[in-house]
Amino acid sequence: MIKQTILNLAVGILIVSCAGEAQISSTDNSGFVDSLMNEMTLEEKIGQLNLPSSGAFTTGEAANSDIAGKIKKGQVGGLFNIQQAARIREVQKVAVEQSRLGIPLIFAMDVIHGYKTIFPIPLGLSCSWDTELIEKTARTAAREVSADGIAWTFSPMVDISRDPRWGRVAEGNGEDPYLASEIAQAMVRGYQGDDLRDPTTIMSCVKHFALYGAAEAGRDYNTTDMSRLRMYNDYFPPYKAAVDAGVGSVMTSFNEVDGIPASGNRWLMTEILREAWGFDGMVVTDYTAINEMIDHGMGDLQQVSALALKAGSDMDMVGEGYLTTLKKSLEEGSITEADIDRACKRILEAKYKLGLFEDPYRYCDEERGSKEIFSDENRQFARETAAQTFVLLKNEDNILPLKKGGTIALVGPMADNKLNMNGTWSVAGQHDKAISLKEGITNVAGDDVKIVFAKGANIVKDAKLESRISVFGKSTYRDDRSEDEMIKEALEAAKQADVIVAAMGEASEMSGESSSRSDIELPATQRKLLKALLETGKPVAMVLFTGRPLAIKWEDENVPAILNVWFAGSQAGDAIADVLFGDVNPSGKLTATFPQNVGQVPIYYSHKNTGRPLADGKWFQKFRSNYLDVTNEPLYPFGYGLSYTTFDYKNLNLSGEEISMDGELKVSVEVTNTGTVDGAEIVQLYIRDLVGSITRPVKQLKGFEKVKLAAGETKTVEFTLTENDLAFYHHDMTFKAEPGKFKVFVGPSSAEGLEGEFTLN
Ligand code: BGC
Repeated sequence: MIKQTILNLAVGILIVSCAGEAQISSTDNSGFVDSLMNEMTLEEKIGQLNLPSSGAFTTGEAANSDIAGKIKKGQVGGLFNIQQAARIREVQKVAVEQSRLGIPLIFAMDVIHGYKTIFPIPLGLSCSWDTELIEKTARTAAREVSADGIAWTFSPMVDISRDPRWGRVAEGNGEDPYLASEIAQAMVRGYQGDDLRDPTTIMSCVKHFALYGAAEAGRDYNTTDMSRLRMYNDYFPPYKAAVDAGVGSVMTSFNEVDGIPASGNRWLMTEILREAWGFDGMVVTDYTAINEMIDHGMGDLQQVSALALKAGSDMDMVGEGYLTTLKKSLEEGSITEADIDRACKRILEAKYKLGLFEDPYRYCDEERGSKEIFSDENRQFARETAAQTFVLLKNEDNILPLKKGGTIALVGPMADNKLNMNGTWSVAGQHDKAISLKEGITNVAGDDVKIVFAKGANIVKDAKLESRISVFGKSTYRDDRSEDEMIKEALEAAKQADVIVAAMGEASEMSGESSSRSDIELPATQRKLLKALLETGKPVAMVLFTGRPLAIKWEDENVPAILNVWFAGSQAGDAIADVLFGDVNPSGKLTATFPQNVGQVPIYYSHKNTGRPLADGKWFQKFRSNYLDVTNEPLYPFGYGLSYTTFDYKNLNLSGEEISMDGELKVSVEVTNTGTVDGAEIVQLYIRDLVGSITRPVKQLKGFEKVKLAAGETKTVEFTLTENDLAFYHHDMTFKAEPGKFKVFVGPSSAEGLEGEFTLN
């Protein structure tokens, strides 16, 4: 039974809806929230700001205790990391029937790249450059999780990162603000749909605001420090894009921004987010981020909690700083009741928008869940999606695609490794149901192909390191045999085969949160195996699993074919086999630069020219900006990726030589599939602003389109540039374009393309 107060107010909502519009406005809460707040005690308002974890899964120290008791006392606003409609219904019942006002809880989860049906990790998804596809993955995840009781996801993560040492590059969309912004909006649309009251949509939470991806030295949770110009031009755009798309909530980041940790940073959470960008949803802190301000050196729990509330952080995840200190702070005058009311109101408004006051159980739809969650249809979609995210890095002598015939030696620690297919942040994923590569090859090639399998190596040799990369129970299947014994077995397998498929790379937990690496090469024990396999003289195709760009210069120089598959999710094995055998032609392109070695990091395509640039094609020039021991080039540039066919770019055409501030310029190019198989090409447009009042990057992505081309087919691809595409933030933080000359490049990657020029008047 819903409590009388809520019931009365809810009847009010229905009357409003019957009397007027066909549907209740999801933003106008028609005085409902204010009326409810009039009924609430101070303690109950503070209680709404509290977001504990159910304790089933934690990323920090605190698993909260006695949650049911707190819910009854009105001390909990929401709960996360609890799954299954039946369990959630039970907990919701406690809130609705046993707390004084019966305010429903909001249930959340990190649904990052799928709920039970797991899609590729976000970095992989971004390599499809297909925003419609990405939107549909979020939509599918929302449909699954919303049937299982959850109405709020902590996604998308849109932190720009240019440091592959940082394990969380896996969770983001790479290095580029333009592409990442398009993806951020697609994800928000996918989760939230057009109307949050639709019970198949959920509230999205863009994170981690802000700059988390710029952690110094790639070490997770480390300090960030950058100029405001860089923040505004390179790091803020994807968060702002999500806000523009109507994201319902924002999560603070752990790091400091301009010397103040994000959760307590009023400039960030109020002046930028709300006043400049117009965000009117709720802000949740990251896990214990308020408490962590004590270690940041901002004061004791009393002080940092007041600081966070004043800054504009509405909901306190896990740490209970708000719950335990705000009343005293109010008595002492360091916060006001209006501060508490503001935060409480935003949380209640979010619940209202989701329709929880009308029906607290509306997201517990066991019947729909039993049909939709992990359905054949969703898994088929995951398989098709995954194949779009793979990046063919090298393919000498057309080793790929493989023939569906003969004998394949399938070797490597990732070849028969179900538990490591889903990748980081697949909290609800059923790892043991993921399709391994070995299964996938059998599923796709059937009896036509004979597979001889050998593990060949462990993921890493050091057992202690291996224990650090399997803390979440995803076994790495450690083998106790010696390196030599395992290699010997692999060579036996290789001897019988026509071709060797080497499945190698990182375990799932080598990327993601708290998984930074200072060495981003292929683990030495795997490289040793690879060398031995190459020495057989048999053709080797390497299938590379990774959650970050790796420094694989040696592999690039020695292995004839490399297919990068990231962590491809539930249907990984099938999707990889689809591509290996050519049923699907790979079309993914990198969204993060692969360095030659870790010393080049941070390396990204949209760098500045400097006053001493290296001449094109040169390596070392004394007193120019370069290294003694490595060229400035990346191993694989942003936007790079091969296909089983080839594409030719011709006839770059600009609609004029000049464009006015309110005008537009059409840029078109003819792209031809010059090979013998059908394929898809991601056509990319970059600009360079040749002279500016502040220095401008050597290239900036401003458009892209994925075109399908049958063998021999030509299509004209057209882009439109307007002033907005040419604008940037200035010292005074105004966003405008400056008249002058621009270059435009259209091509297959950030490193190649046809070139034109125009003037902005
Ligand atoms: C992560 C967030 C995540 C939260 C809740 C934190 O450790 O940084 O991305 O949403 O935990 O699980």
